[in-house]
Amino acid sequence: MDRGKKPSVLVTGGAGYIGAHTAKALHERGFRPVVYDNLNSGFREAVRWGPFVHGDIRDPVALGEAIEAHGVKSVIHFAGLIEVGRSVTHPDLFWDVNVSGTTTLLTVLRERAVGRLVFSSSAAVYGQGARGALETIAETAEKAPASPYGDTKLAAEWLIQAQCRAYGLSAVALRYFNAAAADPSGVIGEAHEPETHLIPLAIAAAIGDGRPLTVFGRDFETPDGTCLRDYIHVSDLAAAHVAALEVDLAAGAFEPVNVGTGEGRSVSEVVEAVGRAVGRPVPHSVGARRAGDPPSLVADPRRAQDLLGWSAQRSALEDIVADALRWERNPAYGSGLRGSAGRRKSKLTL
Ligand code: UFG
Repeated sequence: MDRGKKPSVLVTGGAGYIGAHTAKALHERGFRPVVYDNLNSGFREAVRWGPFVHGDIRDPVALGEAIEAHGVKSVIHFAGLIEVGRSVTHPDLFWDVNVSGTTTLLTVLRERAVGRLVFSSSAAVYGQGARGALETIAETAEKAPASPYGDTKLAAEWLIQAQCRAYGLSAVALRYFNAAAADPSGVIGEAHEPETHLIPLAIAAAIGDGRPLTVFGRDFETPDGTCLRDYIHVSDLAAAHVAALEVDLAAGAFEPVNVGTGEGRSVSEVVEAVGRAVGRPVPHSVGARRAGDPPSLVADPRRAQDLLGWSAQRSALEDIVADALRWERNPAYGSGLRGSAGRRKSKLTL
């Protein structure tokens, strides 16, 4: 690899789900992704497109060394904790990793004169979602996170925005809606431990590798009573990161951008789509609502189109389910959710 020609991009959390897909997209676009990850929840096997640095987001020395050693000029920051439920029981941990970790990173970026940051934010900053039942959510919508996880994402955005104003960093915060599926190559995919997301759990139930699915509530004010979400293919998400890295921004600019399709799909629609893809119905029952689940979270994606020239290309529900199914049948790492206790490699957690 000709290091002189390819701009190095530090990808914190690049061994994780969305980080690994973004590293691949960066490589395909002619960048050199330098993955920085502590492997607490990421997988070494997912680092395939550039050098790997083992380090924690709260370690300023290791971060500074990685930036220096690889001539990094821009950063995509994924490293963080993501489980909403765990954030309720361990808010201190979430603030430490997601907020203090971002503060540490920002200090190092300033010291090393790194000029561009793309931040992995979340639709969780909007909390209960649209006021009107089925409205889409624009970036200007009220921010009222419903969990400590959402709080930490919003607080990290504030920090980044302030740092942009303070010294001319330019940054894009991508607020993801529901990331799903896997790279069509089958070499990287979704491997959370524990897995809590609808599509992998529905697939595991359908192919007999998991417990029957519980649909969390059918009494929402939505057309079929189940929650509406905006499912976005992880390869589309990855492309949004590359676009955010390349977009022309003034020094000091901070741009929050939703990443979604603009189309809501209900839990029942997803369950039916998985059943069609697998060829048999998903065993499921209807249970109580999960605490904090908003009835509808659907992006208004116009800003992504206007600012980044980005729109979803592979996020039809059938494509998402097909790619997710291919991965879950033959995961390259993790366990693929087989067995009631899960067969995924046990991983250290913080
Ligand atoms: N669901 C079920 N049964 C399950 C799992 C999920 O019915 O076993 C339902 C949920 O109630 C929800 C939908 O499927 O209506 C999607 O749930 P996911 O857990 O897959 O995703 P969330 O919408 O809860 O979470 C996403 C992101 C989070 C982010 C959150 C913001 O994955 O990172 O949106 O609200 F914080």
